[in-house]
Amino acid sequence: MAEQESHPTLIVADAGEFGGAALAALCQAIAGLEAPVIGLPTGQTPVPLYREMALQSFVFPPRTQLFAIDEYCTNDSQPGTNAAFFRRHLPTPGNPPTRTPRHDAANPDIEIAGFCREIAAAGGFDVAVLGIGMNGHIAFNEPGSGPTSACRVVTLSPETRVQVSREWDTAPTSGMTVGLAQILAARRLILLARGEAKSAILAAALEGPVSADVPASLLQNHPALTVVCDSGSSSRFRKDFRTQAQA
Ligand code: PGA
Repeated sequence: MAEQESHPTLIVADAGEFGGAALAALCQAIAGLEAPVIGLPTGQTPVPLYREMALQSFVFPPRTQLFAIDEYCTNDSQPGTNAAFFRRHLPTPGNPPTRTPRHDAANPDIEIAGFCREIAAAGGFDVAVLGIGMNGHIAFNEPGSGPTSACRVVTLSPETRVQVSREWDTAPTSGMTVGLAQILAARRLILLARGEAKSAILAAALEGPVSADVPASLLQNHPALTVVCDSGSSSRFRKDFRTQAQA
């Protein structure tokens, strides 16, 4: 049945193994690719993935291109920008820098348009690694973002500003994001989720109706979605969903 074929691959990792499981999923997704184009997330969730890369001295194939999937619009550069995040968390020798749109660009509309032209010129994402916001956002595609939403400047929702407030004295009010159109066009998607606090939104995203109200639910329609989660974030899945999706 078509419905079953579009089930994601679900990997539930123990807390201590989350980074290794995420890295294994990423390696599987890029296997055989000589010059993978990869979209990468920031936030608390992917930190164990990047830590695992550092631990394993992981090196991408030589012609890999890494792109952030979003960035804040701000003149304040430290420490909350995604550019600063990648400098802190993905400095592994031998890997290319992760490109980010310039957070302090004079014209963010032009900046994000140019950034997305670079992704397109690279052939689009082979793999996009994603986190999920407390409100179901994907990158900075906030609720209301549909599947054809393009790269653009967005106003950050109050929920998102609260979620990121640990990184900022005053969280920026806007950001630049790769659109859901570019994300859904990736050949493979890896969605990461950690912690009990994400369990309700993760279940809503993967088991609930597909709707722009929960942008992460649009991932349900992707033919190659792998979800790497932990026991906390997976605790509200229905049993039948778990059984059908478990890798
Ligand atoms: P978090 O953010 O990993 O810090 O929870 C995820 C996201 O908003 O994409």
